[in-house]
Amino acid sequence: MVRSSTLSIPESNDIPQHLAIIMDGNGRWATKRFLPRTAGHFRGVQAVRRVVEACGERGVKYLTLFAFSSENWRRPKEEVSVLMRLFMQTLDKEISKLENQGVRLHIVGDLSAFEPKLQEMIKEAQARTAGNDALHLTIAANYGGRWDILQALRKLMIAKPELAAQSDAIAESELAPYLSMAYAPEPDLFIRTGGEQRISNFLIWQLAYTELYFSDDFWPDFGAKELDAAFEWYRTRERRFGRTSAQLAK
Ligand code: IPE
Ligand code: IPE
Ligand code: MG
Repeated sequence: MVRSSTLSIPESNDIPQHLAIIMDGNGRWATKRFLPRTAGHFRGVQAVRRVVEACGERGVKYLTLFAFSSENWRRPKEEVSVLMRLFMQTLDKEISKLENQGVRLHIVGDLSAFEPKLQEMIKEAQARTAGNDALHLTIAANYGGRWDILQALRKLMIAKPELAAQSDAIAESELAPYLSMAYAPEPDLFIRTGGEQRISNFLIWQLAYTELYFSDDFWPDFGAKELDAAFEWYRTRERRFGRTSAQLAK
């Protein structure tokens, strides 16, 4: 399945088919309340629950959440370790509910860096929900957009070594199937909470034609109401994909 916004024009809908979110501002949410940063991460999990549920109700088909970037290892050791523990606890606690709600869970990123127990849990959680199709929930963990492009290129070169000698033949459509989210269409809408307006090495290939929405809310404060505001903004966008406005009116 190769769906590329630079090769073909995706259908436009009122509700994004694929929503990608950088859940940012947990630390500042906590600091503002004189709490340790990790308290913000715990509260952030509640926001994840709210947003997964709201997306399901609104008919979003693919929801992708940036949980831990390849650069987040640079944080203090204690914070990284709390995040890992929280990831395991949440997976453990939520998996049955997700399974029953028809959610298919995908974890993308360089998982080899995680401790074996977490890798095992990830494998099991993905297997348990593999038959579901109502909502594809992707958690990007130890993910980096540049890592994704490089790992795709490496896989392509292994699968088709003859391409090395004819680099002109390496088309977009050759590489795309090896990207870690090849099972999903490209995001229609991107939301970043926490007030920063940057991509921070998220899905840099896949966001080529995504509508970008920035919210000043900290992630623990984000919920259905804030999501609806983003969707309302999304509906006002004119997605031209290179064409003129007049062409769209036809
Ligand atoms: C996002 O919140 C969560 C992760 C990166 C894991 P932050 O922890 O980045 O919160 P701020 O940006 O410091 O407020
Ligand atoms: C991006 O947030 C990564 C996640 C939300 C997981 P960061 O808070 O790490 O991003 P920067 O470092 O401020 O750009
Ligand atoms: Mg941040």
